[in-house]
Amino acid sequence: MTSEPDFLHRTRSSYDAIAAEYADMFRSEPEANPLARAMLGAFAEYVADGSVVEVGSGPGRVTAHLHALGVDIRGIDLSPAMVALARRTFPGLRFDEGSMTALDITDGALGGLVAWYSVIHVPPARRPAVYAEFHRVLAPGGHLLMGFQVGDAPVRRTEAFGHEISLDFHRMMPEQVVPELESAGFEVRVRMVREAAANEPTPQAHLLARRPA
Ligand SMILES: C[S@@+](CC[C@H](N)C(=O)[O-])C[C@H]1O[C@@H](n2cnc3c(N)ncnc32)[C@H](O)[C@@H]1O
Repeated sequence: MTSEPDFLHRTRSSYDAIAAEYADMFRSEPEANPLARAMLGAFAEYVADGSVVEVGSGPGRVTAHLHALGVDIRGIDLSPAMVALARRTFPGLRFDEGSMTALDITDGALGGLVAWYSVIHVPPARRPAVYAEFHRVLAPGGHLLMGFQVGDAPVRRTEAFGHEISLDFHRMMPEQVVPELESAGFEVRVRMVREAAANEPTPQAHLLARRPA
């Protein structure tokens, strides 16, 4: 049996430790930001006819937001505590444990995939394999929506909400992510960069890409 990469183990344990506090802190998102909401709303229209997965669904707020917009969506998350919390909060929605590095999803099964502030926990050298996995599970014509903090230096947090953690945040530059997605076979259709809001340390990027039909 191959052992799990260290980054997955650290990310899972860290989110297990902070799941409850994280959910409380971000309860009002994403409805709080009109530009984020606009991208989620456009994505919801593009994927109206297919099944959709949010990878890294955390407490489930984005999955629930898209579901309320009519999207046939379920969530997948690495952290069992996050999955349990999302199930309790949104009992009508489906959440499963899993990793975006190896999705238990048939080739071409999805009309859409959302990775909203979750690829940020994948080390840069591992990102091409994750994008290849996204491309594999999307049907031709399927859409990918990503959200991430803009920047070029990783940040490691060792404490959050009074808990000891070990969590890397890989901020990314859109001009670096776009060619990575193109190399994986995607067409990038929209790239939005918005300035940081008062409670945000960096500008935020939202990319909408498509597996060509
Ligand atoms: C910053 S939170 C974002 C949660 C949610 N998308 C939101 O915006 O509320 C990142 C989430 O991604 C999950 N995650 C990190 N790496 C993952 C992986 N390899 N596969 C699946 N989920 C992952 C974490 O457990 C965590 O719940």
